Amino acid sequence: MKKLSLTLFLMILPLFLLGCKKEDKLVVATAANFAPFEYKEGKEFKGIDIEIAQEIAKQLGKTLEILDIEFDSVVSAINSGNADFGMSGLTINPTRSKVIDFSIPYYNAAQVVIVREEDYNPALEGDTQALIDWIRAKNGIKIGVQSGTTGAFYAMGDESWGFEGFKNAEVKGFINGGLATNALTNKQIDLVIIDEAPARIFAATNPSTRIINTYLTEEKYGVGVNKNNPILLQQINDILKQMQENGTMEKILQKYF
Ligand code: ARG
Repeated sequence: MKKLSLTLFLMILPLFLLGCKKEDKLVVATAANFAPFEYKEGKEFKGIDIEIAQEIAKQLGKTLEILDIEFDSVVSAINSGNADFGMSGLTINPTRSKVIDFSIPYYNAAQVVIVREEDYNPALEGDTQALIDWIRAKNGIKIGVQSGTTGAFYAMGDESWGFEGFKNAEVKGFINGGLATNALTNKQIDLVIIDEAPARIFAATNPSTRIINTYLTEEKYGVGVNKNNPILLQQINDILKQMQENGTMEKILQKYF
């Protein structure tokens, strides 16, 4: 009898351990090429989203596992359940909301334009229509974007996102903004459309480039959650609210800006 229960125990033990392991970890999908939100320093993941994700995991008593993939796979990783949630400077949008749920917003963002220093025109500062007209007037202009991002939809035009696009332009997709900015420096493209905060970092690290301080869009970042996990969505919303109220969010943002 004793022997039987021991055998039984040994048989159940691995299952139990496996079960525990899955329960104990929380997988976040991200594309760590988007400082100051997510990036790598050596082997270490850093950034605003990474710190928020760590806080979420901590509050839920779980270990955070980071699934670092290309940006245009982040939404499908959340949708397929390969990740429990996604934090990737992810703009809340009705098209994406068809396949994943979004938390409350935690950051306001906008698309901006990076040009080569010699193309910088101060008259375009703060004047969205003037900037759009300036781009439209250049036939065959080459625009670089990060594939799958708001900037890509904005440049190409997308009905469901409500973007007209630039029919006069050739839009080139890159797997990250760094590569797009390099292509700008090398004159393979004429401008980059990308989110403001990373744009500032890309422009600062490429001295021959410059940002035009004009917002093309109004966006909000949210945490993406699998549609079958309303409990996690609620928990994440509660944690974000608490972080916004007790100053933790502000502290994390200040560390990176
Ligand atoms: N906010 C933009 C979007 O949601 C770009 C996000 C890019 N994020 C990244 N980690 N590369 O489409």
